[in-house]
Amino acid sequence: MSLIHEIDYGTPASRAGTTVRLTIDGREVEVPEGTSIMRAATEAGGSIPKLCATDMLDAFGSCRLCLVEVEGRNGTPASCTTPVADGMVVRTQTPRLQKLRRGVMELYISDHPLDCLTCAANGDCELQDMAGAVGLRDVRYGYQGENHLGAAKDSSTPYFTYDPSKCIVCSRCVRACEEVQGTFALTIEDRGFGSRVAAGMGETFFDSECVSCGACVQACPTATLMETAVIEKGLPERSVVTTCAYCGVGCTFKAEMRGEDLIRMVPYKDGKANRGHSCVKGRFAWGYATHRERILNPMLRERITDPWREVSWDEAIAHVAREFRRIQGKYGRVSVGGITSSRCTNEETFLVQKLVRAGFGNNNVDTCARVCHSPTGYGLKTTFGTSAGTQDFDSVEDSDVILVIGANPTDGHPVFGSRMKKRLRQGAQLIVIDPRRIDLVRTPHVQAAHHLPLRPGTNVAVLTALAHVVVTEGLVDEAFVRARCDLDSFQAWADFVAAPQNAPEAVADATGVDPLALRAAARLYATGGNAAIYYGLGVTEHSQGSTTVMAIANLAMATGNIGRKGVGVNPLRGQNNVQGACDMGSFPHEMSGYRHVADDATRAMFEELWGTTLDREPGLRIPNMLDAAVSGSFKGLYIQGEDILQSDPNTAHVAAGLAAMECVVVQDLFLNETANYAHVFLPGSTFLEKDGTFTNAERRIQRVRRVMTPRSGKADWEITLDIAHAMGYAMTYSHPSEIMDEIARVTPTFTGVSYDRLEQLGSIQWPCNAAAPEGTPVMHMQGFVRGQGRFMITEYVPTDERTGPRFPLLLTTGRILSQYNVGAQTRRTENSRWHEEDVLEIHPHDAEQRGVRDGDLVKLQSRAGATTLKATITDRVAPGVVYTTFHHPMTQANVVTTDYSDWATNCPEYKVTAVQVSPSNGPTDWQTRYDDHGRQSRRIAADAAE
Ligand code: FES
Repeated sequence: MSLIHEIDYGTPASRAGTTVRLTIDGREVEVPEGTSIMRAATEAGGSIPKLCATDMLDAFGSCRLCLVEVEGRNGTPASCTTPVADGMVVRTQTPRLQKLRRGVMELYISDHPLDCLTCAANGDCELQDMAGAVGLRDVRYGYQGENHLGAAKDSSTPYFTYDPSKCIVCSRCVRACEEVQGTFALTIEDRGFGSRVAAGMGETFFDSECVSCGACVQACPTATLMETAVIEKGLPERSVVTTCAYCGVGCTFKAEMRGEDLIRMVPYKDGKANRGHSCVKGRFAWGYATHRERILNPMLRERITDPWREVSWDEAIAHVAREFRRIQGKYGRVSVGGITSSRCTNEETFLVQKLVRAGFGNNNVDTCARVCHSPTGYGLKTTFGTSAGTQDFDSVEDSDVILVIGANPTDGHPVFGSRMKKRLRQGAQLIVIDPRRIDLVRTPHVQAAHHLPLRPGTNVAVLTALAHVVVTEGLVDEAFVRARCDLDSFQAWADFVAAPQNAPEAVADATGVDPLALRAAARLYATGGNAAIYYGLGVTEHSQGSTTVMAIANLAMATGNIGRKGVGVNPLRGQNNVQGACDMGSFPHEMSGYRHVADDATRAMFEELWGTTLDREPGLRIPNMLDAAVSGSFKGLYIQGEDILQSDPNTAHVAAGLAAMECVVVQDLFLNETANYAHVFLPGSTFLEKDGTFTNAERRIQRVRRVMTPRSGKADWEITLDIAHAMGYAMTYSHPSEIMDEIARVTPTFTGVSYDRLEQLGSIQWPCNAAAPEGTPVMHMQGFVRGQGRFMITEYVPTDERTGPRFPLLLTTGRILSQYNVGAQTRRTENSRWHEEDVLEIHPHDAEQRGVRDGDLVKLQSRAGATTLKATITDRVAPGVVYTTFHHPMTQANVVTTDYSDWATNCPEYKVTAVQVSPSNGPTDWQTRYDDHGRQSRRIAADAAE
């Protein structure tokens, strides 16, 4: 394995326009106009020494190592910044150039520690390589005079070290922070000999704006910025290309190993979702995989108040099968069910739903997408005909207007957030619709054209008002609507949105949005060129979540912003495999590929393949399972990779439902909160221990490759297989690739997908079938999947969750960059140093009214429950709105959220809760039941069981 960073080219060629012919070292080469000499030389098979150039960054021309001679020109221009010209004759390897390069390199080395043999980067250092490439043998200057060898290291961040004694001030780290990440945290301080890389204003890396994405480490050509793991354990020896298991961006990484130790995760340049970039989670926060709290052996207990007893796999599996059969014998076929996870692979998810439908004999299977993006599935299927986003991530590069609603890409989807920021720096215009002033509203060199800070719960009113402006001001793309959409539905919709009650002025009181700003935003979206909408859980997790998704689809269709690059409707999926979990048939009413269980032909196909009879009645959703448990008819639940006690709304109700069951089986990495109510714990595997596929937010199916053997002895898919066998329903697969073969057989949008094809293409965006053998980057190009796009009436219905004298504030929730969902993984890494606890953001006015000071402990009370946490006073939130994250079990925002939910899908209304905030003297009762590690004590389980 080459450990040399893949940096080669210098100025990326302008691929548009004409080509030019030139001669390089006697060889004729034809390249596009605008190509740099360095790139042309590479394409001609040559290689020019370089240090400051990389193919991830714009050419800079500072190191002067890439000098060349051009016939007819004076001097020796830098080949990385000099474009080719027709008829040019270039020489790259003359004695004069070699002497010049040796001289440049000698100066670098004379101020660089000569400790190559003991340096952590020995063998992975471009400076070392280039010294060899230019033939430098001796350094004449020694360490005479001033140098930087004694410069102090900065080890403030947990994941990498900055050692300025090794810095050649090539500025690659600074440019990576600016061009790739878009944070602008690094600068070159001072000038001349005193110039040095600095984070912030004389701060440490940790205290600066640096977000530890790793782009600077990746860009560094020496050991100046180096992963701490490499310094401590040595350079890796082998690598495996795999897919990150955090958010829905789906970054591709090289997992670099030394023996059985994972040394580092290096973002993969050929990864089509991330294009060589990463965030602090995927790049560095993988230590949970070997955390001491991983459970590695199956465990059983008769009652949830008993201590756990470690058992063999055979005993655990036999117990699960026996219990589920006993329960079904006593309470009926539909008394058990399963929950799949968006954290797991497509293959694992497919097997769980197959176990439930074919093995349990009912459709009681649901997935955690129930609580996040189920409205996306409903809304986009209703309007466009397919339950998925329309674009690939590359599409953003063709956008002129970007509308972000209910999403916070720089925290929730940071790698795509960086690409979005790059496009915005290039001139695209931004509209943000969010109750909170997210970072994107104003970030270095990016300023939103419009931020509409709406009151939580009024998305539909705002979107319908935007549509009102489009229709009443004549901004509809009539040609598109006539050619592509159902005209009856359009006319009914246009009449509806044009009504006076939907005007921006009419909804201003309810939404809190300035009508003039709303009108301006609507005009920009409709007339600003290619306009793309990106949205997140701030859209879906509402009582009108599905309506909001349809309002977004309406707006895109009415303005013709669908069916080509640069436009579209793009749900930013929260978890790594939300899209896949939905695709695989995890919902109780749908088989894989979103086909209803009541469809006889679909069922017949599965019945023939699976050799069993399938139920035509949709099964129970998660909230219905819990209701049925409380009422006594639902008794057994198999939960793979999901912590419903922490992630589902109204924690007390979830606890009551779980406590009422007779066999709860939790398959996970750690003893999560739900495991407090489990009778069986089956140890799961991390993504590093498994083969399979994830499907990201752009419908991109990507391989997950096993980097290390499963620490518990079994991969997750094997556990499900064993349960099925033990229950008497045999499934036969010897490898996850065979599960994918079955998925492809039964799912029309996957018929062209196989592991072999994924190896050939790298990744595939579904639909992939005979009509689209290489997949589909942009959907609905020629026509909508459902034929004609369907406009839906989106009447604004205020949520039943109202503010009033007792609960006058509205709570909304979100994520922070360093943590991930309920924090089961990230809290077990050094990422917790950035976010040790969830805090409550409150506007200065509301804080003053309540006598709350910054940092005070406050009680957050709703109709559902109460929690305490620290207050942060900020004007990022408007008066009347408070905000918190949900990463720590010690605060559990979902104790406060209600069980109101989306009318169509039951997706919980996490984003709107009426609350009161008051000073607090200490934690609530239930919070005192947590141990020092934030784990709930067994006591709460006992309480719930009584
Ligand atoms: Fe061209 Fe550094 S690589 S000047």
